[in-house]
Amino acid sequence: MSAQFPVARPRRLRRTSALRRMVAETRLAPADLVLPMFVKEGIADPQPVASMPGVFQHTRDSLRKAAHEAAEAGVGGIILFGIPAVKDGTGSAADDPDGIVQRTLRDLASDLGDSTVIMTDLCLDEYTDHGHCGVLTGAGEIDNDATLERYASIALAQAEAGAAVLGPSGMMDGQVGAIRAALDGAGHSDVAILAYSVKYASAYYGPFRDAAECAPQFGDRASHQQDPANAGESLREVLLDLDEGADMVMVKPAGAYLDIVRRVRDAVDVPVAAYQVSGEYAMIEAAAEKGWIDRERTIMESLLSIRRAGADIALTYWATEAARLLRRA
Ligand code: PBG
Repeated sequence: MSAQFPVARPRRLRRTSALRRMVAETRLAPADLVLPMFVKEGIADPQPVASMPGVFQHTRDSLRKAAHEAAEAGVGGIILFGIPAVKDGTGSAADDPDGIVQRTLRDLASDLGDSTVIMTDLCLDEYTDHGHCGVLTGAGEIDNDATLERYASIALAQAEAGAAVLGPSGMMDGQVGAIRAALDGAGHSDVAILAYSVKYASAYYGPFRDAAECAPQFGDRASHQQDPANAGESLREVLLDLDEGADMVMVKPAGAYLDIVRRVRDAVDVPVAAYQVSGEYAMIEAAAEKGWIDRERTIMESLLSIRRAGADIALTYWATEAARLLRRA
């Protein structure tokens, strides 16, 4: 062994922060981040979500303010979830032109202009009294094709109120095609679809069901959301959605499914999003609160990892804070 050994020294490029920055293979920017936001009808003040410290069910006014802050921090977009005052069997508040999301969309369209992308989650679970993502048959099962008609109608209500991108998240077969046809038939061919193509039946959604008040009153979502055991099925879902007219595709959750993000990234040439869900948020916040991890470093590492796995866009409840940290760095 010569005195020179080792000749190859990867550590040379890790020596200073300037070197590390120059050779970084993955970059995270505010525009890569999308902020999910909750707006609740009929409340006077924003309500904190207990299992998601720092996240609120907003009033229309407090949402406007928070959306403005997000846009100012440079986030790529925001995605709205609505919690109506009254729920019923068919989720009629979801496509009411005066429903909470539609009103909020109209507020935001005038406030935000082109400073960030305004998106909506398109599903029924926040609007139905039974908490399922669709309408039910007499036997209490989700009626896939009747649900598609509801989704088409919600798509029109959201598009008419000013949403630029719709995110169907109910995992009904044919949902992207039904929404695309409805939009195109009503002169909304410019409204884009971010399909929740790959959505697992995940325990990581727990805190969200508090935030959106949408826990199913009976049963679960395993008949339509994917089995965490499956990977190949995800590619089939993605290809079907692209065939039906999806403009972008999403994988959800993110952190426990980074292998799926990579497989999807390698298979398609449309933008890929990944949703860092409520449970991922809650775990990091809880561990940080106990002083067991460095909160900011863990947040930024989790987001960088989503980008490194191949996602162009990360949906994260930390979007505004992370965008500010990135601007400071
Ligand atoms: C359905 C929807 C859910 C989430 C986003 N859209 C809940 C579900 O499928 O049960 C979860 C998001 C999160 O956990 O952060 N409208």
